[in-house]
Amino acid sequence: MLVELRRLARGALTEARWHAALLALPPKVAMFQARARRLAWRHRDMFSLTSVTRPADLRTLLALARGRRRVVELGTATGWTAISLALADPGRTVVSYDVAHRPEPERYLRLAGAGARGRIRLEVRDAAEGPADRAPVDLLYIDSSHERAPTIAQVHAWRPVLGPGAVVIFDDYTHPDYPGVREAVDELGLAGERRGTLFVHTVV
Ligand SMILES: C[S@@+](CC[C@H](N)C(=O)[O-])C[C@H]1O[C@@H](n2cnc3c(N)ncnc32)[C@H](O)[C@@H]1O
Repeated sequence: MLVELRRLARGALTEARWHAALLALPPKVAMFQARARRLAWRHRDMFSLTSVTRPADLRTLLALARGRRRVVELGTATGWTAISLALADPGRTVVSYDVAHRPEPERYLRLAGAGARGRIRLEVRDAAEGPADRAPVDLLYIDSSHERAPTIAQVHAWRPVLGPGAVVIFDDYTHPDYPGVREAVDELGLAGERRGTLFVHTVV
């Protein structure tokens, strides 16, 4: 009984912290994330509940994305970050790539509203194959395999569409479980800075 009560209290605290962190996000994004989280619990969608970009990192990502209209994400998962990026700027288009085709993004896209939905394109494709078209990209967010060799291959494949001033953002750069991200950045010899758990490289 006591063990169960402790488990429930821990769960409630985690949820309270997660929702508190949403307050630092733009209202439309915070609203979407809160509704998506509720839906994820209802559907027992543990992939979303454990894999999406955390609110603190999302806040940093959205700040870095300010003024950047052509955004590409490598690693869609269930679509929460792609949707958040689109909701944060009504003039932004977001193309998100994933090797796996999953049903979940459709569920969460329904929460986004027609305006944002129309500015999001999902591609099922290995990110290391590079872009499906030659459209220039202002911000490339790499949140895919987290492994060294694929991450290096992805940077090489996307370089042709990254002009001067474009930013490349690597998720989980400091995460101890994903040393491949840091190894890839080092091996590529990319200059840049750490922002929270992210690494940010600006193309010159
Ligand atoms: C951590 S999840 C992405 C989370 C998502 N960016 C978010 O914030 O909601 C990683 C995703 O990368 C995808 N992935 C792994 N290797 C990939 C590759 N080579 N190309 C494209 N996607 C890949 C996985 O299928 C998985 O959905």
